Amino acid sequence: MNNTISFADILYGRIELPGWLVNLARCPELVRLRHVRLSNVDSFEFKDLSGATRWEHALATAWLAMVTVAEMKIPEVSKTELIIAALCHDVATPPFAHTLEYIIDSYDHERESEFVIRAIMGDYTSYMKDVFYGNTYTLHKTISKVSNLLGMKLDLYTISSHITGDSDLGHIIHGEIDIDNADNVTRASLYMGYSVDRNVPIQLAKLLSHGYVSPSSSNDPAVESWLIYKKFMYSSFYEAGLDEQGRVAFLHYIIRKGIKLGVGFDRLIWSTDAGLLDLLHSLGDVELCRLVTHYRMLRSPTHLWSIPFYEIKEARSLEHPNASVWIESQLSVAKAHIMVLYTTNRIVDESDMDLLGKPISSLHIFAVANKSSRLVKIDIMRKIDMPFSDVDAPEVQNLLRTRIDRWALTTPWLQHDPVSIKSVPQELDNVSDWSFRNIRNESIHAYPSTFVKAIPSNLIRYLKLKGQLILDPFGGTGQTAMEAAVHGSQCISVDSNHIATMIAKTMLSFIPEASLDKVYNLDMDDYTLSMQRYPPKFDKQEKWYHEKTLRQLASIWGFIENWDDESTILFLKSTFSSLLTDCTDRRGRQHGYFADNTPLEKGKARPDYVDALSLYRKRIQRNTGIIRRFYSRINKQNRNVERTLSDIKVLNMNSELISSDSLNIEPGSVGAVITSPPYLCMSDYSLGLRLSYYWLFPEKMDEDFGVEIGPRRYRGRVDDPTIKYLAGIDRVLTACSNIIKNGGYIAFVLGYSTAKRFNDVDVLGYIENRAQALGLEWVWAKERTIQFQRNKSRSSKEDIIVWKK
Ligand SMILES: C[S@@+](CC[C@H](N)C(=O)[O-])C[C@H]1O[C@@H](n2cnc3c(N)ncnc32)[C@H](O)[C@@H]1O
Repeated sequence: MNNTISFADILYGRIELPGWLVNLARCPELVRLRHVRLSNVDSFEFKDLSGATRWEHALATAWLAMVTVAEMKIPEVSKTELIIAALCHDVATPPFAHTLEYIIDSYDHERESEFVIRAIMGDYTSYMKDVFYGNTYTLHKTISKVSNLLGMKLDLYTISSHITGDSDLGHIIHGEIDIDNADNVTRASLYMGYSVDRNVPIQLAKLLSHGYVSPSSSNDPAVESWLIYKKFMYSSFYEAGLDEQGRVAFLHYIIRKGIKLGVGFDRLIWSTDAGLLDLLHSLGDVELCRLVTHYRMLRSPTHLWSIPFYEIKEARSLEHPNASVWIESQLSVAKAHIMVLYTTNRIVDESDMDLLGKPISSLHIFAVANKSSRLVKIDIMRKIDMPFSDVDAPEVQNLLRTRIDRWALTTPWLQHDPVSIKSVPQELDNVSDWSFRNIRNESIHAYPSTFVKAIPSNLIRYLKLKGQLILDPFGGTGQTAMEAAVHGSQCISVDSNHIATMIAKTMLSFIPEASLDKVYNLDMDDYTLSMQRYPPKFDKQEKWYHEKTLRQLASIWGFIENWDDESTILFLKSTFSSLLTDCTDRRGRQHGYFADNTPLEKGKARPDYVDALSLYRKRIQRNTGIIRRFYSRINKQNRNVERTLSDIKVLNMNSELISSDSLNIEPGSVGAVITSPPYLCMSDYSLGLRLSYYWLFPEKMDEDFGVEIGPRRYRGRVDDPTIKYLAGIDRVLTACSNIIKNGGYIAFVLGYSTAKRFNDVDVLGYIENRAQALGLEWVWAKERTIQFQRNKSRSSKEDIIVWKK
């Protein structure tokens, strides 16, 4: 098992892989990838690309990981984990690569890969008895065997978090440029007939050993070449002939038909390309059998029309996977299968496209019919009440555009889901474990009671909120808004706390790569010497900070004030703020501690010195990593980060005052509210962050404390704080109910107070009654166990409740 095996590779000539790695590549889950092609369709025009498989790409990516780690000074075990992650990064990729992910919006192959590696029963793995021709899955067991063989303790969690990009080395497999897309893009370009340099991915693999590689800031020739390949590849797909586009539409169409006939998602996903077509053929539907045979025989549907789009707003709503299905159903006529394909031009920046007058996207309409295409066109025009005698005249295209424009603006496909065979509650129930015990948030700043990102992420996914406007009235550090950005939704995140909004704004205002680079390499000593400044005066200052620490903090503060660009200042301020508790003698304490307690232990006269400068430098580097990993999650969805973040607003205000006017939005434009309100007297958001307020917003602390709903500090009040708390929550719930559109959802994540005084207060019952009184329809609820993110000792359960307007 410890020998080396040599493989011939079309791109690199020969690649040598260790025997233990090849044993992993022989696990049924990975062998399946030999029968899943690299490209999304059985391509006609790109005929050779159709032969490339995910398995060859998996081996090549593992080999590139070996190139990367050879350049790194990290422990052997970390190197091995990274190589395994590279081999397994696509393990849960469904047949025809990303095709199924376009159709089943809720499927995420990276998350599923995590479940497979860690042998957790996930949403789609739960029925996974047979992963490849009667073989059950063995990957996790084989990884344990490799652990024993190599005499190292390989950690499955670390391996899977490299794949999802959540680890410190995550950028190597899951960055804007990573070994996965270094190989994928170069390999696909080669198979598409482009003359590529095989050294480019190798060079990129080496570059990645030094840290994050960004396409926008690197002048490295390998990055430049890779960008050219990528541009070539995407523009070839976008500009491919109609035969090719038609085959993509055709494949989507037959898969959707199979789903409508009730074939389970798990069977679709854990199949191969040929197996998926067999499965569709075996469903016993005569028409579908006929279509599958046509598809197999390399036929393309007949092209009817292509409609270009120039506006970003239409383009965004047509991106929703249900839009194509809905349009197909509106255009469907007798004796014909109407298939549409919506494609976006991914490569040019959207602002350039407007300037160049090039379409942002196109909708191609095709048919497989038992009659002439002219007759099909006439029938379609009649069906949508636009009878027109000359169906091939250019005006027809304009008429169709007007109709589709109208649909794009009213998004009727959001009301009902034509693809899913499951209802919203079934989908939500299907998330196997709402405790998300393995998922951790990465945060640039500690903040009380943030919720784990998987909660908004799953709600956005299963409430089908892609492309819609989401509101979080208790937005805190912006977890909902960040997930909205990743999923392609718009979001308004509101919070009354100035520190929370500063953190959320830092994450959600675009920081150009060059600025991140600049702060990452900052030499604080040079600057700070010349930036002396007095610290602000506040109570017990000398007990919180050692005098030298205080001087250092003051000079960092002065330095930040002299910085020149807005988004970086925000980043520097948030990072500075995140340091303020760590620089005291009480570092590592809970927020409640800082809200209530004295700076020093009994008997201690002055705090110890903490080197604020070096802490700041380290924190800046850590935080740039967090921001880059967040950007790469957006980028992985093929979205432009700057433009995506321009769809997100972070507002500092009292949520009780929320209305369409105060948020400056069209009435009825909010698709859903996803939020976690404060619990009754459990956290002190402003007081717990008082050191940050003293430095950054001294005049705002009392004001923010006054607005805060249910602060912990009110526990001991003589008059019952419950009434005030419930009234506050009620006002926000009412405002949310008024602002969302009909059919929109409200999701609250709410827990109980563990303070004895409030044992009998039924907050949930009260809110349920209020929701009912507001006419909201109860949809789903779940009690979840709280893991890492919240303080376990104080509150370990909370409820997620979803209503519909
Ligand atoms: C449970 S936390 C939300 C945390 C958030 N989900 C996150 O992950 O960061 C509750 C938030 O409600 C905010 N809050 C309390 N009263 C408020 C009010 N009247 N208006 C706006 N925000 C308020 C607090 O500042 C706190 O950030």
